[in-house]
Amino acid sequence: MSFRFVDLPAAHDDLRADVLAGLAAQPKSIPPKYFYDEAGCRLFEAICAQPEYALCRTERALMDAHLSEIAAAIGAVDCIIEPGAGDCVKVRALLDTVHPSQLVVLDIAGEPLAAAAGALALEYSGVAVSALGMDFIRSLEDATPYLMGGRRLVYYPGSSIGNFTPAEAAALLARFRKLAGEAGQLLIGFDLKKDPVELHRAYNDVAGVTAAFNLNLLARLNRELEADFDLGQFRHYAFYNPVAGRVEMHLISLTGQTVRVAGQRFHFALGESVHTENSWKFRGDEFSAIAASAGWQRVQTWERDGFAVQLYG
Ligand code: AVJ
Repeated sequence: MSFRFVDLPAAHDDLRADVLAGLAAQPKSIPPKYFYDEAGCRLFEAICAQPEYALCRTERALMDAHLSEIAAAIGAVDCIIEPGAGDCVKVRALLDTVHPSQLVVLDIAGEPLAAAAGALALEYSGVAVSALGMDFIRSLEDATPYLMGGRRLVYYPGSSIGNFTPAEAAALLARFRKLAGEAGQLLIGFDLKKDPVELHRAYNDVAGVTAAFNLNLLARLNRELEADFDLGQFRHYAFYNPVAGRVEMHLISLTGQTVRVAGQRFHFALGESVHTENSWKFRGDEFSAIAASAGWQRVQTWERDGFAVQLYG
């Protein structure tokens, strides 16, 4: 068994600075990476169980159905790197089929990552597991010293890439390219453009779980930044914007109100938005053009029910 956990505090996210800057800006916004505190992670899991939100289920079904084909296309790999690995469940399928000698998982939430990766290391005794608690969006390059030599695969499932503007996505994929090296590969999953009504429903589930997930961001600021948001005075508002090709999530102030956050006061006008997330949807070729601009050539594509997994080299 080989396992190490490294918390990289110097590289950690600065919730306070990002939130204060986002609320001072016009229009107001908060980066979506801050959804995922403990309650937020649980709410996201609950979203994935909603009948309207098929994304997670569909990706799992796609991976299950094509796993041996995907593993064959990947070939021999020494090191798998998964940014934003969370509960480390998705990468298991690859460990079972690709058999790397090293797994490096990165996540902004260090403690839960360490627990999940530690359990994984016990089960996969032939794999050296490194868990790095870090905000990889800010400091991906800090992972480099922890990587063994050999052929590398970056695994970025779950349509997390959809949270970035196309320009930001290209920049992140270029950093993945540097991390993986010239002989490296990228296996990435993303949500496809589809019926806008279906997309609308996926982010407006009847049980209200997505609304709770969005509002939990304000609850988190109340808990961690001594804020005094009244959650009843903000409305979850999500819609598909077909011109931009993305779902937008907002929290809309239902009244004129002033809120205290980390010792500062912010005014929210009636109807004013805090933009909390964009989830870009792509066509397969559209995504490949973004990846190509980051130095990745498409090797193969698998699609199923509005979701795609693509392999790049
Ligand atoms: C985890 C970023 C893929 O954008 O669909 C789910 C997050 N937000 N419901 C997505 C999310 C609202 C999810 N990603």
